[in-house]
Amino acid sequence: MEITLTSPLDMHLHVRDGEMLQLVAPLSARDFAAAVIMPNLVPPVADEQALRAYAERIQTALCGAHFAPLMTLFFRNYSEAELRAAQNIPGFFGVKLYPAGVTTNSDDGVRSLQAVEPTLRCMEILGIPLLVHGESHGFVMDREAQFLPMYRHLAEQFPKLSICMEHITTAAAVRLLDEYENLCATITLHHLELTLDDVLGGALKPHLFCKPVAKRAEDREALLQAALSGHPRVMFGSDSAPHPIHKKECSGCAAGVFSAPVALPGLARLFAEHHATDHLQAFVSDNACRRYGLTPPAKKVVLRDTPMQVPTHYRSFGQSVVPLYAGEEFPWSVCAVQE
Ligand code: NCD
Ligand code: ZN
Repeated sequence: MEITLTSPLDMHLHVRDGEMLQLVAPLSARDFAAAVIMPNLVPPVADEQALRAYAERIQTALCGAHFAPLMTLFFRNYSEAELRAAQNIPGFFGVKLYPAGVTTNSDDGVRSLQAVEPTLRCMEILGIPLLVHGESHGFVMDREAQFLPMYRHLAEQFPKLSICMEHITTAAAVRLLDEYENLCATITLHHLELTLDDVLGGALKPHLFCKPVAKRAEDREALLQAALSGHPRVMFGSDSAPHPIHKKECSGCAAGVFSAPVALPGLARLFAEHHATDHLQAFVSDNACRRYGLTPPAKKVVLRDTPMQVPTHYRSFGQSVVPLYAGEEFPWSVCAVQE
């Protein structure tokens, strides 16, 4: 069986910086035509100069690959002039809002949504998408559900603002999506595959631990329904979030699943198993292109049900990172890429 995808997009990707950037950026560029790059560096990417400099470092790491990094700013109170300046940067995509302290490197995030309404209004007028990590500080399984009223508030207060509910993990989030045209959502591969049982129901699996944590079987079912049906406002975002092995296999494991190098084979297997391969192109590219008016670099990626051996680690530049499906013989693989 074979699936050909046109210009697959990863609408939520962490490529980090320094040696990790050099290791992981080419792995996304190999399979994807473009990706939305998260700004949660230390310090965060929160002004024009930092954004331009980060985009340049990414270009250097890509070594001329046929791949467009779509850059985001870390949300703070921006003036209209700052937002307009960002819009002039080639590849600028949107602004990512993290509630303070909810995930990796988000200490400088937002503490009060009311205080940032002028910036949101300005983004609405300028047509700049808002991307949101939608979790509260409550009980870990309830954090996304507790944030949903906030999405509702934003969707109603800013009807022309394009709001992306990032990496949704619950059936309730899928239901909310259907209530407001200005909401869309990304879904990861791992949240389509896992429940909390896979993470800690048996031996604890640090490489499957991420924020938001995987939820219940009925939540995964709702996410699958949305993705497999080609729901027009649902897009693939891997949330591939590499951490060096010593930060994962330790006491105080960092949150994040490194899925980028296996994301497309993973999606191919999932959509094939569910007889939904006709909708994979919508999920992995067309829905995002339509929603955001994107014209990504032309790339054809051919996937086949030919097994591949997933590396136990990716190592280089002094970094070692463990991918999703590490060490498995995986039944699907990327067999050709045409640019
Ligand atoms: C991400 C990271 O490591 O930067 N971690 C994660 O578990 N997803 C941050 C994020 O997107 O929440
Ligand atoms: Zn993320």
